[in-house]
Formats: sequence, structure tokens, C-alpha cells
Amino acid sequence: MAIPNQPIGETIQGLLKPGGLIVFAIYYWFITLLTTIFVDMNPSILYRDFMAFRHKAFSRLWLAMGEAMSLEMPGDTITLLKSTSGTVLDCGPGSGQMTKHLDPNLITAIYGAEPAVGLHPELVKNAKDAGFGAKYVAMECGIEPGTLIPTLAKQGLLSSKDGSSGQGAFDTILCIRVLCGVPHPAETVQTLYRLLKPGGRLIFSEHVVNPWRTEGTMIGRAIQAAFMTIGWSFWLGGCSLDRHTLEMLEKSAEEEDGGWAKKEVKRYDSWCTVPFVVGTLTKKG
Ligand SMILES: C[S@@+](CC[C@H](N)C(=O)[O-])C[C@H]1O[C@@H](n2cnc3c(N)ncnc32)[C@H](O)[C@@H]1O
Repeated sequence: MAIPNQPIGETIQGLLKPGGLIVFAIYYWFITLLTTIFVDMNPSILYRDFMAFRHKAFSRLWLAMGEAMSLEMPGDTITLLKSTSGTVLDCGPGSGQMTKHLDPNLITAIYGAEPAVGLHPELVKNAKDAGFGAKYVAMECGIEPGTLIPTLAKQGLLSSKDGSSGQGAFDTILCIRVLCGVPHPAETVQTLYRLLKPGGRLIFSEHVVNPWRTEGTMIGRAIQAAFMTIGWSFWLGGCSLDRHTLEMLEKSAEEEDGGWAKKEVKRYDSWCTVPFVVGTLTKKG
């Protein structure tokens, strides 16, 4: 795919969009550093639990910018969110910007796995405003198995403590702008696959590596590499611009069951620096 025939300004914006965000991320990272040292008087967190510091810095950025960054979502994301049903795992819900697109009448219970506790008050508020009340359970954990599985076990959602047995726990798993930032993504995605009930659906909207060998562009891929080189992941809470997320999702089902029962996937803006894959994967029944 070539760069679309469009005004030059739009092309520049599509290629350099992450530039603005990284500037804000660096600013909020340093504000968090200063408040951690001089206001909270807690400098030891930097070496005791750098991940907690990272979540604090990202929370500050997301509370400032998350709403604006959620006004437009790629492709069918919002339509897919509206179809979320049953018992749901909401992976990395952040401040809950997506909850208003969910229909509480279709959802029995929804569990948000959000490790950045600084986002929980806003998450709970947005879930309440969206009509969920006690149906939304904000959990202080990530979605990597080491933290997710014990937390789900405590919630009584698993039939065994390691989550390895049983028929899955969730009718729908939501991965919206989260798999770019989780540690050990392949292992994590495999765990999510196992947690889906037979016939369950994984709804995703994720930015991925520019598919420059097929439908992407070499310049989009090169600019991704440049942003990664100047510390994109470091400043943005572990987010990567160059993950092969779709391939990992496909592989998770191939390894367990020979593939997904149904795949509905579309790519958006494959030419640019933040191309998305959006869709639904349905587990074999
Ligand atoms: C870009 S925000 C997206 C928030 C929300 N999904 C949305 O689209 O509005 C990414 C979220 O993933 C969370 N996150 C980071 N590491 C995570 C992990 N290991 N497991 C689950 N969520 C994580 C971040 O704290 C953040 O809230």
C-alpha cells in the first residue's frame, strides 16, 4: 500500500503523530519524578518498584490526554464494543474511556484488569456513569498470567488456582490499546485465549508494527523504529510501536485448538506510524 493520495499535511501528521505524544509523555514523566521525590517523599520507589513509578507516570499522562485520545477510535471499534456481552474481562481499561460504548444490559459482570491504580477512581466513576455500578469490578493487576491468574482466582472465577483447567471464564475479552504495552505479550495472549469460554469472543483494537512488506510503507516502519530508538517505550509506560500483535493472537489459537473458529479482522491506516488492527476472534465451540 502506498501513502494515500491526500493533502501533504495529513501525510505528515500520520507519520509524525507520535512526536507530540512523546513530548507530553516526557513532560509528565518528569513531573511525576519531581512529585515522587519532593512531594510524596518517596524516592526509593524508583529502585524498589520502578514498574509502580512507571504506572504513576503513565496514569498522569493518560488522565490528562486519554479523553482527547479516545474521541475517535479506528474503524469498527465502537460498533464492536457495543456488542460486548456476558462475563467480560476488560484488559487494561485505563480510566474507562471505553465503558460508555458498552451496553450494561448485555453484560452480566465485567472485570477490569488495570495495574495503574492511579486510574482506578476515574475508571470506577466512568463505569458507574455508563450504568454498570457494582457490575464493574476494577482489579489491581496486569493481564500477564503471573498477576492476572491469582487475581481471578481470588474473584472466584477460575476452577483451579493456576487457571489451567476448566472451560474458560469469559464470554468476551476486550483488548483495546493494551497489548502494545504488556510484558511477555506472547505468553499473555496465550493466557487470554485459555481464559475464553468455548465460543467466546476476543474483541481487539490495537496499534501494531507497520506491515511494510505487504500493505504498509517503508517510511512508516522507519519512523516507528526511530521513535522506538529515542525511548518511546521508556517514556510511555512500556508501549511498543512495533508489536506483531495480530500474529500473536492468531498463533495463540493455532497452538491450542488449530485456529480460531471465526476471524473478522481489518487493518486501518497501514501506511502510517500508528496503524491499527481491529476485529473479533471467536474461539471454537
Ligand atoms: C493506552 S491505555 C488504554 C486504556 C483503555 N484500554 C482505552 O483504550 O481507553 C493502556 C492501558 O493499559 C494499562 N496497562 C499497562 N500495562 C498493563 C498490563 N501489564 N496489564 C494490563 N494493563 C496494562 C495501562 O495502565 C493503561 O491503562
